[in-house]
Amino acid sequence: MEIFDKVNAILAEMNAAAPQNAEETEQFRIKYLGSKNILKPLMGEIRNVPNERKKEYGQLINKVKQAAQNKYDELKAASENAADAAEAQDLDLTAPGEPLELGSRHPVSIVMNRIIQIFERIGFTVSEEREIEDDWHNFTAMNTPEDHPARDMQDTFYLKDSMQMLLRTHTSSVQARTMTTEKPPIRIIAPGRVYRNETISSRSHAQFHQVEGLYIDENVSFADMKQTLLYFAKEMYGVDKEIRLRPSYFPFTEPSAEMDVYWGLESEADYRITKGTGWLEILGCGMVDPQVLENCGIDPEKYSGFAFGMGIERQAMLLYGIEDIRLLFENDVRFLRQFASAL
Ligand code: PHE
Repeated sequence: MEIFDKVNAILAEMNAAAPQNAEETEQFRIKYLGSKNILKPLMGEIRNVPNERKKEYGQLINKVKQAAQNKYDELKAASENAADAAEAQDLDLTAPGEPLELGSRHPVSIVMNRIIQIFERIGFTVSEEREIEDDWHNFTAMNTPEDHPARDMQDTFYLKDSMQMLLRTHTSSVQARTMTTEKPPIRIIAPGRVYRNETISSRSHAQFHQVEGLYIDENVSFADMKQTLLYFAKEMYGVDKEIRLRPSYFPFTEPSAEMDVYWGLESEADYRITKGTGWLEILGCGMVDPQVLENCGIDPEKYSGFAFGMGIERQAMLLYGIEDIRLLFENDVRFLRQFASAL
């Protein structure tokens, strides 16, 4: 039949075609595979083919289509390889490699990691908790009920339309989280971000970092706390360092203290940094108030413990001589690069 010959002729022509470049390959595609390809009108002709040969005709058309597709795929792959090869010829294998830009750790992370490592060495494990807290864990459980004057100590960011949800003002909220979910002995440190509604200046920021510590077991004493903190100070600031504890007040500890590390009074900077005393305040601490244990479901007759909370930015500023806390939050690479080797 004439129409079969027509299709066979197209097949032969297609097989013979030898596109030489990308443009000819594209023309090949349009001719045999495009939306108006040469086979389209012949497909319509199937209605003129006698019924008993319709199947054969359809198969023939499909064969041409398939063959055209295979040939096109091969042509395409070959021309891509050729392009790659051409590009490879232009490669200067002796050119120096492009240097990888290495980042560095943020000074706050460096100091935080050091603190974590120091406490991990004596058996504390890291507990990370949420920054969006509820009022109970941040305040009420920590013995700071509503209308307690101590709430004014920390100006709070509340979430919109809610006096119940807030950005935690201290990592002490993790104490409540841990004591309500774990049984003593508890020995954790909780590093993380905290927020206070404060005016931003060179010395204070509305967002900063703390590391909280909590140790609860039978017969934990104030002396245990003192030795733990002395160990920390020596590891962090040097074996010859002295500490002192000054009485203080926190609603969730009794007795409460603040710890100073002796910094020295040699240079003019020492005078400025320590306000002429030689001592630096590093952290707040104390024996966990029995009422807090009770609030969190731990028997204060059986268990006692200590807690401490320290600011990170302040220590980073001391250790690296950074004079303005805002530098720690601006992420200026010229500032951050200086800590590349400070791991
Ligand atoms: N949460 C206190 C603060 O942010 C620090 C603290 C922690 C004090 C644990 C005592 C015990 O100032």
